[in-house]
Amino acid sequence: MSNICVIGTGYVGLVTGVCFADLGNRVVCLDVDQKRIEGLKKNVMPIYEPGLEQLTIQNVKAGRLTFTTDYHEALAGMEFAFIAVGTPSGVEGEADLQFIRAAAESIAENINTPVVVVNKSTVPVGTGDWVADVIRKKRAGKPLDFKVVSNPEFLREGSAINDFMSPDRVVLGSLDKEAAQQVARLYASLRCPILITDLRTAEMIKYASNAFLATRISFINEIANMCEEMGADVREVAQGMGMDKRIGHAFLDAGLGWGGSCFPKDVKALEHMAVLNGTHPQLLQAVMEINRNQRRRAVLKLRKALGGLNEKVIGVLGLSFKPNTDDVRDAPALEVIRLLENEGAFVKVYDPQAMEVAAPYIKKAVFCDDPYCAVTDVDALVLATEWNEFKQLDFSRVRSLMRTPVILDGRNLWDGEALRAMGFTYFGVGRGVTAVARD
Ligand SMILES: NC(=O)c1ccc[n+]([C@@H]2O[C@H](COP(=O)([O-])OP(=O)(O)OC[C@H]3O[C@@H](n4cnc5c(N)ncnc54)[C@H](O)[C@@H]3O)[C@@H](O)[C@H]2O)c1
Repeated sequence: MSNICVIGTGYVGLVTGVCFADLGNRVVCLDVDQKRIEGLKKNVMPIYEPGLEQLTIQNVKAGRLTFTTDYHEALAGMEFAFIAVGTPSGVEGEADLQFIRAAAESIAENINTPVVVVNKSTVPVGTGDWVADVIRKKRAGKPLDFKVVSNPEFLREGSAINDFMSPDRVVLGSLDKEAAQQVARLYASLRCPILITDLRTAEMIKYASNAFLATRISFINEIANMCEEMGADVREVAQGMGMDKRIGHAFLDAGLGWGGSCFPKDVKALEHMAVLNGTHPQLLQAVMEINRNQRRRAVLKLRKALGGLNEKVIGVLGLSFKPNTDDVRDAPALEVIRLLENEGAFVKVYDPQAMEVAAPYIKKAVFCDDPYCAVTDVDALVLATEWNEFKQLDFSRVRSLMRTPVILDGRNLWDGEALRAMGFTYFGVGRGVTAVARD
């Protein structure tokens, strides 16, 4: 059993804290957001993540997990301080490190016993050294026995607990091998590969991984656009590519592009640090441009299909950036809605989990209680997020409710052939003329 403080109770921090507690450790989760901590003390989850509530309650009951806003209390007797605060995009696309600095300074001010500071937030290469420097400066000559380890997080929202408990790998970076080994022992029971490297390499592994996954999606979207123009079907192209073991199937689904709390800000931050360090990241720049254009292309298809968007009513199903999360940060749906509204369209929306979180960003939209309400009297329907409950809609009912039966399936979720047979005008992504004839 180890004593662990986790700083930040967002998607990463809360999942990390709860899972470490479940592995038998004593964990204190800390956040500066009073409301969040008050809620957690009453078992109210600040985020939607499958399985999280139950696991939290179990570990609180078992006495291994507590919540606080008090750094002094949180750090008392702790061997590990995990930093899991946000690193949002700054004005120029750089990672904004203000929350990391604040957390590092608070650690420096509130602990006097040996501690390993573990950075789980995604931070620019070199930040581990910078955090050590921030702590040393804050101590102003009062020595503290501390080491910094980078432990980038690879969990996916929607399957975060499973990803934490069965990771493909754990990456640890430190200048101090013993400190890295100490952190490695926290993960030993997971029986997963553990890669120990230096600080900067670990930080780069995180950015390179996210940038690579985003690149795969932008790649297949570029191919999808070619398929549309050249009469091929991108779904089968991806299938055929993925059968090659060197390529594999993951992250080859064409659609409205990548979004979420990580890919957009991380690709931007990597591009930013690359330029600042004298390299020319033209691949990353193209990956971002393709992604931006993918949403615009969806609007173009709708505009063409409806003969203009002014005063048209569009139903949008799905707001979160992917299914099984309420996270709407950089969600393609919100961008598409903004573009539609900009051309004078009215939008009706439905999402199983994300409507409350999305509401401040799409104030003019009409929020519906179910998918059928969202398609009533609309001129077109856009599927933006492939939640399970959208897979088996009653399309005869949908057809009878819509003003004009136009569907833009932004996730290639539905059977285009069946929908066309029912009288819908159906567009997927990357399903070209031949494919359309075959659908
Ligand atoms: N969300 C993901 O799927 C994911 C996956 C891998 C890595 N990451 C990275 O992990 C980090 C955290 O991401 P997230 O999505 O969990 O963020 P989040 O925004 O959901 O949560 C961050 C939390 O940190 C708290 N916080 C801010 N400053 C603080 C301080 N000084 N002291 C204590 N708490 C403070 C905030 O109140 C908030 O509750 C980011 O760097 C992100 O890039 C996220």
